[in-house]
Amino acid sequence: MSQRKLFVTTALPYANGKFHIGHIMEYIQADIWVRHQRMQGSMVHFVGADDAHGAPIMIAAEKAGVTPQAFVAGIAAGRKEYLDGFHIRFDNWHSTDSPENTVLAQQIYRDLKANGLIASKTIEQFFDPEKQMFLPDRFIKGECPNCHAQDQYGDNCEVCSKVYSPTDLINPYSTLSGAKPVLKTSEHFFFKLSDPRCMEFLKQWTASGTVQPEVLNKISEWLVPGEDGTTALGDWDISRDAPYFGIEIPDVPGKYFYVWLDAPVGYLASLKNYFDKGGAKAAGENRSFEEFIADPATEQYHFIGKDIITFHTLFWPAMLYFSGRKTPNAIFVHGFLTVNNGEKMSKSRGTGLDPLKYLSLGMNPEWLRYYIAAKLNGRNEDIDFNPEDFVARVNSDLVGKYVNIASRAVKFLPGGKLVAGDISSLQPGKLVERVQSLYESRDYGKALREVMAFADEVNLRFDAAAPWKLVKEGKGDEAAKACSECIEAFKVLTACLKPVLPELAAQAEAFLQCRPLDWSHAATPLGAGHQVGEYKHLMQRVDAKVVDSLFEAPEPVVEKVVPGGEEIAPAITIDDFAKIDLRIAKIVECKAVEGSTKLLQLTLDAGEGRMRNVFSGIASAYKPEELVGKLTVLVANLAPRKMKFGVSEGMVLAASHGDEKANPGIYVLNPWPGATPGMRVR
Ligand code: 2FM
Ligand code: ZN
Repeated sequence: MSQRKLFVTTALPYANGKFHIGHIMEYIQADIWVRHQRMQGSMVHFVGADDAHGAPIMIAAEKAGVTPQAFVAGIAAGRKEYLDGFHIRFDNWHSTDSPENTVLAQQIYRDLKANGLIASKTIEQFFDPEKQMFLPDRFIKGECPNCHAQDQYGDNCEVCSKVYSPTDLINPYSTLSGAKPVLKTSEHFFFKLSDPRCMEFLKQWTASGTVQPEVLNKISEWLVPGEDGTTALGDWDISRDAPYFGIEIPDVPGKYFYVWLDAPVGYLASLKNYFDKGGAKAAGENRSFEEFIADPATEQYHFIGKDIITFHTLFWPAMLYFSGRKTPNAIFVHGFLTVNNGEKMSKSRGTGLDPLKYLSLGMNPEWLRYYIAAKLNGRNEDIDFNPEDFVARVNSDLVGKYVNIASRAVKFLPGGKLVAGDISSLQPGKLVERVQSLYESRDYGKALREVMAFADEVNLRFDAAAPWKLVKEGKGDEAAKACSECIEAFKVLTACLKPVLPELAAQAEAFLQCRPLDWSHAATPLGAGHQVGEYKHLMQRVDAKVVDSLFEAPEPVVEKVVPGGEEIAPAITIDDFAKIDLRIAKIVECKAVEGSTKLLQLTLDAGEGRMRNVFSGIASAYKPEELVGKLTVLVANLAPRKMKFGVSEGMVLAASHGDEKANPGIYVLNPWPGATPGMRVR
């Protein structure tokens, strides 16, 4: 059989946050599969990338005061710590904000267009008049039209769960500026998924073994033809207006691809980048990226979570197929990882599992790999991380069953030399075959159960042989035979665990002094006369206390917070407050005060039919001409005060920090538009 050539990816994480345990689980799942494939002799290119584009990242960057590129680079720089930490070995990590992705996404778009599958339509959308940008649904809030809860997002209500469109919201506002959004028209571009060709293709493609049965079930609602033979899918809006952090649509300046259009293209972009850098060649692939990806024999697989099924099982294959490209061989969907029985993860309550905290506590990453693998099957099902179960499984399976075999047996092997033995009754070949096929179908939990059942049998044989007794009885040869068999069995087990526990397997290989284990020789005996190395303890037990501290809420930082650098003043009653008469006043005139560097002299109109003269200590912050014509707030019933330069008839309000030296700056209050002189502020 010729060598299989695989291209494997995991979902590309948004570059606006660190990895959480859900990402790590997916990468571990894929990494195990890739390692299994390699043990089978397949050539695998396993790539990832950051999903860099889209409005949320653009806005987060703006808030952080950096360019989106710099923002994304900062996130990307943090990826390695996690990946190395959990022994997740991507061959390449790239970004969707890259030249490769730009070229590929634009080419795919052109090909779809040439195929008659791009349409344009003018649509109406909410626009933020202050930010001068169209607002994504998530950035519009308002009152729920159904239950009237306040501050609900533009797509659905978190209180009553009603799904609606942003235009249904009562009193909508932009979460970016607070402004009331206005409806504005814009030309958008659509991928015509409603075209009957798409329906026909997707029905056939999804039913050809490319998706798990439960996934097919989920998406089948989209594949029922409408009355006119079109898909229930509807056309997909793939364009966004500037300002947008994304890839420009060819020939339409100011229009960008919606992030979900170029995100999956990022799989190809990362692979191309890897090929162009010579990575694939080093792995034995001599063809170009273009030749490799177009070869019908190349197998393409994407590991994803259940929340992004439609994009990967409908939109992405259709994009590839109708742009004349090869479609994925399969999409592998997994469920979510819950912690502590589905309890909602929350940092403050400390129920989340922070991957970096896990590593910083010195916990062995392969414990987590093992536990996650033991819980996974090939179906789209949620799994739960249970701390007690974690401790029990690692300690009893890995240390108590697997490692124990080597540590006990090696003691009765004089000089570490294996003697002739026979473990054929344990049927190691059968185990290896079973386990291989279970890895292939991503049924890791079942594979590990079979491995541990085998380890149980080996331990029983050891106990039954009682080599410690044999040695005492002068039957050292018999003891050496029993222990050689245990070591042979340990080798088989090591191979079977290797995709899950690569580092432990490497240490075990060093002890066994065997060549790197793969499936082809996993069940072949090392043989009589084989010399094993010195045994060093292979794995520590998990200390339940460390697991407790993993889930402890972080100590709150106890530090007295003084807002604005000044303590809040003692309480007053509403009546106390009502004694202060605050009025809107217009600054009609403003000039510097000769002989003072601090004061400005203001002429104010508070709607009284007369002007007021007020001196204010704001000269360090404003030039007189900046203030003329502006509205501000005046304390109108403050007793007039005679000053060196004249009488001050009130006071204007301004904000400043309690520690003015450390935080200089004075900010005169200015009412929202609409207020007029004389209005009372209450
Ligand atoms: O859901 C997400 O996190 C997306 N960033 C996944 C993108 S996968 C692929 F299309 F890039
Ligand atoms: Zn509601």
